[in-house]
Amino acid sequence: MDVFERVNHLIAEIEAATATNPEEVERFRIRYVGSKNVLKPLMGEMRNIEANRRRDFGQLVNRAKEVAQQKLDDLQSATAVQSADDDGTTIDLTAPGEPQPLGSRHPISLTMRRIVSIFERIGFAVAEGPEVEDDWHNFSAMNTPEDHPARDMQDTFYVAAGMPAGPDNTAMLLRTHTSSVQARTMENQKPPIRIIAPGRVYRNETISARSHAQFHQLEGLYIAEKVSFADMKATLLHFAREMYGEDTKIRLRPSYFPFTEPSAEMDIWWGLETEHDHRITKGTGWLEIMGCGMVDPQVLTNCGIDPEKYSGYAFGMGIERQAMLLYNITDIRLMFENDVRFLRQFASVL
Ligand code: DAH
Repeated sequence: MDVFERVNHLIAEIEAATATNPEEVERFRIRYVGSKNVLKPLMGEMRNIEANRRRDFGQLVNRAKEVAQQKLDDLQSATAVQSADDDGTTIDLTAPGEPQPLGSRHPISLTMRRIVSIFERIGFAVAEGPEVEDDWHNFSAMNTPEDHPARDMQDTFYVAAGMPAGPDNTAMLLRTHTSSVQARTMENQKPPIRIIAPGRVYRNETISARSHAQFHQLEGLYIAEKVSFADMKATLLHFAREMYGEDTKIRLRPSYFPFTEPSAEMDIWWGLETEHDHRITKGTGWLEIMGCGMVDPQVLTNCGIDPEKYSGYAFGMGIERQAMLLYNITDIRLMFENDVRFLRQFASVL
């Protein structure tokens, strides 16, 4: 093929070139327009051409250069139009997306949400109270006056002397249980009252794998006319079955709390299949889940509700214990350390 033919060949090649993205345009530019383009060496062929054809050859090579430059302009504007945004920036639609890391809910929140939703579905509304509480709502209103021996059941963090005192100069403390929300609700609402109060509580306890100085509880309170112990049992059985499966068995053991009479502790049947079951149920197969009972008439009176007209039941349960059962967590301290290796494991749980 003579040199004229080679140039004509290149021109045809240039005219037929296409590009769909900036990388292809750049490849075209390097080959036909860049500093080492394929047209350059052709000029060196000039001296091998008969003198009377040199002029034609020069013109042909120049035409090839022009065609290449024109084609480059066309390709550049064509691909730019495809990917240019309104503000002139270009977006590479073929680039992989940037993953948005998803957080995870804390196992305590997961457990709390589950319990709250079980009670919400049967008409309980969520109530709240402060974590820094006064002595009255945490203890005295709940039938636990200053010299009552039951105060020893819960080692209390008192807010330092010199800090503002509560109403009527009562001591301020970190609430030791969510039962304080019972008192606050009864002061402010008329029966029928049907509330649950989830939240954080504090006790001056030695921190170990099984107990912590901060933890969470969920309180329940139902006050209306003619509420019976049987109503309470039916409600708590419903809760146990929603939470732990429809075959779950419960038992109520007599117990003592200052604010309920009679009082009970509720156990669920856990079973004794594995060694672990034996250990966590202390060989009985039963696991204690909550305290409960009929609201003591003195508590109703303390909070301005007529015990002749109204009766009610109350219950209180720990959250951590149940979260540990649900998710097989063996050390309560993991819940408060915020180690992402622990937390990440709950990423797929709703
Ligand atoms: N407040 C009790 C505790 O922290 C739990 C409790 C027991 C709450 C019986 C209640 C109840 O409402 O009726 O140990």
